[in-house]
Amino acid sequence: MIELAARIKDVEEYYFSKKLAEVRSLDTAELPVINLGIGSPDLAPNKAAIDSLTITAQKANSHGYQNYKGIPALREAIQKFYQTTYRVSLNTETEILPLMGSKEGIMHITLAFVNEGDEVLIPNPGYPTYASVSKLAGAKVMTYELKESLDWGIDMEALRKKDLSRVKIMWVNFPHMPTGRIASRVEMSELVELARENNFLIVNDNPYSLILNDAPLSIL
Ligand SMILES: Cc1ncc(COP(=O)(O)O)c(C=O)c1O
Repeated sequence: MIELAARIKDVEEYYFSKKLAEVRSLDTAELPVINLGIGSPDLAPNKAAIDSLTITAQKANSHGYQNYKGIPALREAIQKFYQTTYRVSLNTETEILPLMGSKEGIMHITLAFVNEGDEVLIPNPGYPTYASVSKLAGAKVMTYELKESLDWGIDMEALRKKDLSRVKIMWVNFPHMPTGRIASRVEMSELVELARENNFLIVNDNPYSLILNDAPLSIL
């Protein structure tokens, strides 16, 4: 048996991988389980997107190495999306990097900024990947509380009392999973101020921005 790297030892199986296996084991023909446990897309992409992918996949020149930061047309489309959705102007060359998903971004940002022993602030309750990735990078995970009495907002008073001097990244996730809480512009500004005061990076993981939300907000 070849021993695993030390960094893997603290990393547990992905929460949903374990939980969904448990759900599958309970699902029988006599007692079918309706799984409300994970929000997986149940609509196909737009037909135009599928047609375009199908045509492009058949072209001989579509299968080589791709541009390292995404083709210009895609980055321009993302820039337009940010402009119309959030009123945020981004530079397509230096401020946009297409990814395969949020998890890849969470991993890469952590690897780019966090040294072993640095602290990372993550929300409780919150998306489990922030903790797993931080542990993989050898960081110390520190949680901050979201409180039901604050309509699941951040307990800023408790957060300000913590020693934040070793914090390198604070993960925020508004609209929040699992509570659905949306942050106001004022709350976002307070967070940015806290990050500036304590000299850490703040990242808003924002996949639910357009769901049941009339006023999508970017932390930028
Ligand atoms: C808050 C949050 N961030 C990121 C992800 C993962 O996103 P992706 O599938 O793009 O890696 C999820 C998926 O459940 C999520 O809830």
